[in-house]
Amino acid sequence: TAVRHLMSISDLSAIEFSRLVLNAAAHKAAVRHNPIPQDLNKKLKGQTVAMMFSKLSTRTRVSTEAAVTMLGGHPMFLGKNDIQLGVNESLKDTSKVISSMTSCMVARVGPHSDVTGLARYSSVPVINALSNDFHPLQIIADFLTIHESIPRSPTDELVPKGLKVAWVGDANNVLFDLAIACVKLGVEISVATPPGYSIPQDKVDLITSQARTTPTPGVLNQTYVPEEAVKGADIIVTDTWISMGQEEESQRRLKDFAGFQVTNELARRGGAKPDWKFMHCLPRHPEEVADEVFYSPRSLVFPEAENRLWAAVAAIEGFVVNHGEIKPTSYE
Ligand code: CP
Ligand code: NVA
Repeated sequence: TAVRHLMSISDLSAIEFSRLVLNAAAHKAAVRHNPIPQDLNKKLKGQTVAMMFSKLSTRTRVSTEAAVTMLGGHPMFLGKNDIQLGVNESLKDTSKVISSMTSCMVARVGPHSDVTGLARYSSVPVINALSNDFHPLQIIADFLTIHESIPRSPTDELVPKGLKVAWVGDANNVLFDLAIACVKLGVEISVATPPGYSIPQDKVDLITSQARTTPTPGVLNQTYVPEEAVKGADIIVTDTWISMGQEEESQRRLKDFAGFQVTNELARRGGAKPDWKFMHCLPRHPEEVADEVFYSPRSLVFPEAENRLWAAVAAIEGFVVNHGEIKPTSYE
């Protein structure tokens, strides 16, 4: 049978995505409130997960290593100076070799084709740990954070009906998977970018095509006006204006994104909900969000970062332990 990989949130149905988030919540509750549950650390016993990172990482590296440890496996970190990832050996050969000795490859790459290339030739599941186009593990953690932090009625399983998310900043990898998840789960997402930085058409097409995979799709709105995007928002989200690999565009980007900093005043002017919350995948720089927001009680950024751990546990369980069958996990 074909091996199942996690390249993007678009690889998951709405039900599977919700299950991963709820499984992450279940692991978090079980590990927090009890001694480490008995068989959690047997799930990957004797197995190795290769972590092939060609870019820097704090959260993704630490959460993945900790998750593999919690599941009883061995995380093997391979940085860009350790292996020949696309340097002196083809992706195909690298993938065939590493997958012959491990149970999973978790890869952080530049071009998305690098991680899909690994997946094509791998005999084990490949999990995208961020590419230039997508960051699925982040978005599982983000929805766990929303699930925990935004009040909902008992009939709403994951997030409240009518939830509105605003993204103010660059249209990047994190946004693309966030928008896919929103559309799948019936969440409205409004995106404000400067002119010239909108969501590329192929990604708009992908996001809107995801609406057809779900009975109650959410809507994607785009604008150049941050105030418009935050109108009625329950959550305002942003990310760096300069993603890894774009360093040489720094000067131009800092100029072009002027006026896009998330501040209390922006939220007030635009008419965000009075109790709006703030999210950011981190690492953060002060230009995209003011301290008054980032370090305020509205800010969910540190629980969001911790939730990367529980997201990683759920994703590795689903794709590696359960071979891509995303089923509900329960603790008695
Ligand atoms: N949010 C996130 O992926 O952070 P790292 O780049 O530190 O892994
Ligand atoms: N958009 C950022 C996210 C970092 C976690 C980047 O790709 O660098």
